[in-house]
Amino acid sequence: MEPSFWHQRWAAQQIGFHQAEVNAYLRRHWPRLGLAGGSQVLVPLCGKSLDLLWLAEQGHRVLGVELSREAVAAFFEASKLTPGVEKRGAFEVWRVEQLQVWCGDAFDLTPVDLAGCAAFYDRAGLIALPPAMRQRYLAHLQRVLPQAAQGLLITLEYDQALIAGPPFCVLEHEVREGFAGWQVDALEQCEIVQESPRFVAAGVGTLLERVYRLAR
Ligand SMILES: C[S@@+](CC[C@H](N)C(=O)[O-])C[C@H]1O[C@@H](n2cnc3c(N)ncnc32)[C@H](O)[C@@H]1O
Repeated sequence: MEPSFWHQRWAAQQIGFHQAEVNAYLRRHWPRLGLAGGSQVLVPLCGKSLDLLWLAEQGHRVLGVELSREAVAAFFEASKLTPGVEKRGAFEVWRVEQLQVWCGDAFDLTPVDLAGCAAFYDRAGLIALPPAMRQRYLAHLQRVLPQAAQGLLITLEYDQALIAGPPFCVLEHEVREGFAGWQVDALEQCEIVQESPRFVAAGVGTLLERVYRLAR
């Protein structure tokens, strides 16, 4: 999934991944991380997700990262927030108080950029990427996040032979191998195939959303 793929998706408003409400797993499981209010949270591949606002409302300093400037602008417009915008290295940083979205490529993040992050939240980030890029993404996240970081990760499992991604199928063993050396707790799984007509039409019989807590 090259940047041009995502820019085209945003330009054509093919953003079926966007949720009109805050993610229910986030609300339900975030408290398990036990983070202090002012902790900084990385939201990689954030789109224009309302989850950014929810995390900020919990008192967190939020650092979203998103390739598409269109998505970033749409997020602030929908939120009725007027951000300041400044350059920082390879990124354009859009910021309102404790909420910032870095417009650019998540692979350009450095350990210095994320030195203050206590946790990350990935919904539709990892599963947006094809296999080789996922490996690169997981290795990169672990390299740039501080040693003590935790995370909440939401994945999707289905028969990849029946329908092409994104979103891609990411099985539990891939999560465990990708986060080798981390504690990986499977928190919840939910069958959602009935809410996913595109998958039903492709003959997919089971579509599992899964939620993991990660700590090292
Ligand atoms: C499937 S969407 C999910 C967005 C968001 N997490 C949500 O739940 O709505 C994936 C997003 O990642 C962005 N993206 C893809 N590759 C990226 C990269 N390398 N760096 C930053 N953003 C990226 C895309 O533009 C897209 O908005």
